[in-house]
Amino acid sequence: MDIPSSPGKFKMDKRTRWHKSLPKLAFWSILFFGVIYFLFFRTPSSFSSDTSRRSLRTYNYGGAAWEKKVRSSAKVTSKNGVSVLVTGAAGFVGSHVSIALKRRGDGVVGIDNFNDYYDPMLKLGRQALLERTGVFIVEGDINDPTLLKKLFEVVPFTHVMHLAAQAGVRYAMENPGSYVHSNIAGFVNLLEVCKSAEPQPAIVWASSSSVYGLNSKVPFSEKDRTDQPASLYAATKKAGEEIAHTYNHIYGLSLTGLRFFTVYGPWGRPDMAYFFFTKDILRGKSITIFEGPNHGTVARDFTYIDDIVRGCLGALDTAEKSTGSGGKKRGTAQLRVFNLGNTSPVPVTDLVSILERLLKVKAKRNVMKMPRNGDVQFTHANISYAKKEFGYKPTTDLQTGLKKFVRWYVNYYSAGKKADE
Ligand SMILES: NC(=O)c1ccc[n+]([C@@H]2O[C@H](COP(=O)([O-])OP(=O)(O)OC[C@H]3O[C@@H](n4cnc5c(N)ncnc54)[C@H](O)[C@@H]3O)[C@@H](O)[C@H]2O)c1
Ligand SMILES: *[C@@H]1O[C@H](CO)[C@@H](O)[C@H](O)[C@H]1NC(C)=O
Repeated sequence: MDIPSSPGKFKMDKRTRWHKSLPKLAFWSILFFGVIYFLFFRTPSSFSSDTSRRSLRTYNYGGAAWEKKVRSSAKVTSKNGVSVLVTGAAGFVGSHVSIALKRRGDGVVGIDNFNDYYDPMLKLGRQALLERTGVFIVEGDINDPTLLKKLFEVVPFTHVMHLAAQAGVRYAMENPGSYVHSNIAGFVNLLEVCKSAEPQPAIVWASSSSVYGLNSKVPFSEKDRTDQPASLYAATKKAGEEIAHTYNHIYGLSLTGLRFFTVYGPWGRPDMAYFFFTKDILRGKSITIFEGPNHGTVARDFTYIDDIVRGCLGALDTAEKSTGSGGKKRGTAQLRVFNLGNTSPVPVTDLVSILERLLKVKAKRNVMKMPRNGDVQFTHANISYAKKEFGYKPTTDLQTGLKKFVRWYVNYYSAGKKADE
């Protein structure tokens, strides 16, 4: 650019100077207003919109009416109730947990960015369900520090149930940035706000069984090594566990990680096999079933959503208070990790047979060798630690749980909605 390095070198009369700098003036003012636009009219999440999933609408928060909604949603109605901020509240697990908490008299406020990783109509449907129970979901990104701080200003949450994440194993190869954005950057941002909150909340958050990666010793126990993740998704969850250790160690945050094992049920996720198998079987489309090396069985420890919800509540209820204040640690705080599974792995071929029976349609099976793109051959949880600490005891077998899922599915998609929209 031809900006003079010193005033002395600039030798034009005032008029020509003015004319010459018009384009420059225009350039700088456009830049100026551009920056203003970005700073004030776009939320921080928009800065990384390449890596995060596109949101439905622009976020809108603040103001007296908004604060009133937040406060009323956070109102505790039972004697020993707690107030919980649930991230990912429009998600599968988040919506079920939010409703369960609200029903037993806890205060609940949700936050979710309603991204389009899968059909956002499902998220809006869950939101409507939550609204009827009295839970307000704030639209926003967990990467937005201003929004999170504002929420803690309005409500002194005793607990955070952190379920917002970029889920899915195979999608990580398509959009790796979205995993870093939500599972790492978003988690750190949330912990930063929690550490400075007064009082600090206790945090329970979703890790994943995928951290066991290529381990072959079964059942998977919390004490096993978890240093061979098979996908970027798994690696971000493992990173989350290490980050949790750091914030517990430095700031005295009480942190509990829950390693969920293949959660399924009504209002589930369309990107998961039991869900799209159901959809494809009903349409007469062939489904791809993976097998391991030497025709080895691929199996999952499928866990029904109600059992997971009970596990989440158990973890919340046994979470001790964080010990820090003024952003500083004042004593040792609780740090835990639990498996939440069903302890009975079922081969994926059996899953398909159960679905065939429930749907009364024969599946077109297409058996294929499992590609090495993130999935592991089997999962099996040792749940004795969760049982010991909060009486965790799953009670729903796959047959029973799938029956409930199928009933919901048929009902939901026959009401004029299509599964692929
Ligand atoms: N469902 C399972 O089988 C399973 C297994 C292991 C772990 N988990 C973990 O459990 C948690 C809940 O999973 P789910 O199955 O309900 O998934 P989900 O995708 O249905 O729910 C996650 C929700 O978080 C929201 N979200 C994502 N990024 C966000 C961001 N940056 N800011 C705000 N909101 C954001 C999404 O819009 C979504 O509604 C996740 O952490 C997931 O990784 C799930
Ligand atoms: C399950 O984990 C517990 C520790 O929580 C351990 O004592 C027990 O031996 C494990 N069981 C199996 C079958 O590996």
